[in-house]
Amino acid sequence: MDKLVVRGNSSLTGPLTVGGSKNTALPLMAATLLAEGPSTITNVPDLRDVRTFSKVIRYGGPSVTFDPDAHTLSVDATTLQTPVAPYEMVKKMRASFYMLGALLGRCGQAKVSLPGGCAWGPRPVDLHIKGMKAFGADIELDEGYVHASTPPSGLEGGTFRLDPVSVGATINLLLAAVTAQGSSKIENAATEPDVVAFGRALQDMGAQIDGLGTRTLEIQGVDALNTGTFRNTPDRIELGTFILMAATASPPGTPVQIHKGTHEHLGPVFKERLSETGVDVSYGDDTVTVTRPDELRPVSIETAPFPGFATDLQAQWTVLLGTTDGTATVTDTIYDDRFKHVPELQRLGMEIDVTGNTATVHGGPSLKGAKVMSTDLRASVSLVMAGMLANGRTDVLRVYHLDRGYEDLEQKLHHAGITIHREEYDEFAEPDLERIE
Ligand code: EPZ
Repeated sequence: MDKLVVRGNSSLTGPLTVGGSKNTALPLMAATLLAEGPSTITNVPDLRDVRTFSKVIRYGGPSVTFDPDAHTLSVDATTLQTPVAPYEMVKKMRASFYMLGALLGRCGQAKVSLPGGCAWGPRPVDLHIKGMKAFGADIELDEGYVHASTPPSGLEGGTFRLDPVSVGATINLLLAAVTAQGSSKIENAATEPDVVAFGRALQDMGAQIDGLGTRTLEIQGVDALNTGTFRNTPDRIELGTFILMAATASPPGTPVQIHKGTHEHLGPVFKERLSETGVDVSYGDDTVTVTRPDELRPVSIETAPFPGFATDLQAQWTVLLGTTDGTATVTDTIYDDRFKHVPELQRLGMEIDVTGNTATVHGGPSLKGAKVMSTDLRASVSLVMAGMLANGRTDVLRVYHLDRGYEDLEQKLHHAGITIHREEYDEFAEPDLERIE
């Protein structure tokens, strides 16, 4: 297993460069299955999740080729024969559940494993299933699998309201609806930039979708989609993470540049809260410039669906609050229990109380490096961020969580001035008690 070793108190001076979006690349990969023939996606990040989803797709018969240096991924779905996504793969990555909509749309049938729980609690897929039923799919659950099929002439289409609004269900229902016989409507649809970019790619393939970026999507089914070449969007959560790293770990008054992000995808609330902390941020076409003030003000946040504050940035915000001289809260309204990073941040010296879905952060205490355990993707990057601020050495263990969503993070941070490297370790090795410090 790998860990990241971070030396604290080194300064982030930049520049940093944002890669392609994980959460857009995955649905784009699913979309390629709707067309017979080869499609290509550019700006695809070299991430564990991309490799996992490539395996899920290959299992059904299509070929997937990925050039990680060129960040280009091609799928030829001509040879799709087995409309199945097995548990062994889906359990590794919930987004594999996008195979349900893609396989139904392309093959008229699908057998897809239910994903099960996730690191921070239940994450149901009931809306995906109810929505497919509302569009005319016949669905049964058996032995942990969803068995789905359409009538012989394809899905009829229908209307379905998402409550709560769901990124994944919006994507899955779009995948199923674009080749339905009739028209479909998704009410209370997600408006996350990842969903909009994915919907635009479907339109480029010939899908008829109205309302992208609004809460109501109307889809008129077409017989088949065309292949194509699509450019993936920049990763908005990586951009937000880098901004928060610069806001906390750069020398005050020294601007840090972050290239190749799309700042509009951060949403207005994140920008407003950030500016309330006193960080000076200028948003250019291709570059965001962050200048840290001498002191940050504590500002509370509450996560919400886009255009609200992204839940995928709340763990990083928690670390930022620790550097302020006051108290503020982080409330997650999307996930009730997404605070697995808190006990690890406490090991580094942060003072945080969690009650219900709110973490109260008492800023001020200086942090001291320690060994800490990653529990999920965004939790792990918050630990790296805290390690950058701590005195001494922090070992962030089980960094495979981080590798799901941040490409070459340690290289990027190293080039930006942070002392950080990756090491292999054996988590199950008997501890050498003589050498434990
Ligand atoms: C997507 O997950 C992202 N994943 C998540 O990012 C992100 O945290 C989340 O959206 C919220 O923005 C991908 O895009 C691959 P949801 P998703 O369906 O689609 C409830 C990361 O770190 N719900 O929008 O699974 C659900 O429990 C990951 O990159 C139902 O009740 O999230 C949650 O409370 C982690 N029933 C809310 O909706 C359902 O059938 C929003 O979840 C589906 C969801």
